[in-house]
Amino acid sequence: MISKVLVVGNGAREHAIVKKLSQEDVEITAAMSKLNPGIAKLCKRVELIDINDPLQFVQFKDHDLAFIGPEAPLSVGISDTLIELGVTVAAPVKALARLEWSKAYAREVLDRNGIKGNPAFKICKTEDQVSSFLDEYPDVAVKPDVLTGGKGVKVTGQHLLTRNETEAYAFDMIKNDGLVVLEEKLIGKEFTLQAFVDGTRLHYMPLVRDFKRAYDNDEGPNTGSMGSFSSADHDMPDLPEETIIKAKRIMQETMDAIREEVGPYKGPIYGGFMVTDDDTYLIEYNCRLGDPEAINVLSLLETPLTEVGYGMANGKLPVICFNKKATVCIYLVPEGYPVAPVKDQPIYVADGVQSELYFASVYDDSGVIKTTGSRAVALLAKGESVTEAREKVYNDIDKITGRLHFRTDIAKGIP
Ligand code: AMP
Ligand code: GLY
Repeated sequence: MISKVLVVGNGAREHAIVKKLSQEDVEITAAMSKLNPGIAKLCKRVELIDINDPLQFVQFKDHDLAFIGPEAPLSVGISDTLIELGVTVAAPVKALARLEWSKAYAREVLDRNGIKGNPAFKICKTEDQVSSFLDEYPDVAVKPDVLTGGKGVKVTGQHLLTRNETEAYAFDMIKNDGLVVLEEKLIGKEFTLQAFVDGTRLHYMPLVRDFKRAYDNDEGPNTGSMGSFSSADHDMPDLPEETIIKAKRIMQETMDAIREEVGPYKGPIYGGFMVTDDDTYLIEYNCRLGDPEAINVLSLLETPLTEVGYGMANGKLPVICFNKKATVCIYLVPEGYPVAPVKDQPIYVADGVQSELYFASVYDDSGVIKTTGSRAVALLAKGESVTEAREKVYNDIDKITGRLHFRTDIAKGIP
């Protein structure tokens, strides 16, 4: 019997995890670095701790099951710590989460195992290696080999406008981290494929598209995300079936390869993919649910999340079902985000919001919800079609007020 469940993290993704668990017959403990009032309201126990410090987790040894939302605790081995304490953990151990915390490692796993899905790439340890790669591929994505909260990747033509700038950025990384990953720049459509993994088997979740740019028409700087959608048939309307089959093959083969090399991967896996005119490529793996993709898929999950989590950790996924509805999620962010966000501003939620509301990076100041510098609130609606879900969610958006910004074109034109 699972009765005590620990959820680590304080974002909207963890709010979605906690909300789903709160519909099940379990006691929830939240371990957060900052207090998310939406999460706190649904939990029996709340601990404000450094979630990247293994020593802080001894107090949770009586828990039956743990979910870890963000990447940083995975990269320092919080799963390993909890497993040693006897807790069942629905997240990968550090050695397997390396697929996310080292971009170089993820590329090498595919290469070494003959898994087709890598663009041309080079793991560069010297400035000469950078220059030779740029001679062959002038247009590149430059990727640090450490976690950067999604903000470290720079692409030529978008963030790096000259060869000098590209070299300078790559050389800096070699100085700081000892290496940098250069990849041929791909041009195409991106999509997110996530799966629950029990070491051997994968259960794929509905496909999601994430909108990363700050302003309408995909303009402005990259953000944590401004919104996302998923379709009622769980596919992406503008992707050929062959693309989805290829992405699933890449993911399954990667899980098979790391099982042989390291051990069984148990937890959710996230693949960012891109389909170009020629082929389907892996952009990156995340060893966790996406934010906001978690909000889309967990709002559709019909199977109890405790069963899914327990099944992943114990090598036996249950039968998993998702509601056949479309979802649209919109993020409200502080004005000026991500470059110069206004902070500590009040947010008011009027009565009558029909959409699901998830708090992200906000805090409670004597009963008033206030912004930090990051994404503030996510709203999600479901519908028979994306159009219907979109209408519902945008109808509610004026009910959330404050010095906030949102994109008006998330999922626009999608039937
Ligand atoms: P990542 O953190 O690896 O997901 O990269 C962040 C974003 O950079 C992705 O969502 C893509 O839009 C872009 N990106 C990453 N790798 C490439 C690539 N090889 N070609 C073009 N764009 C890329
Ligand atoms: N939506 C992108 C991420 O979670 O990293």
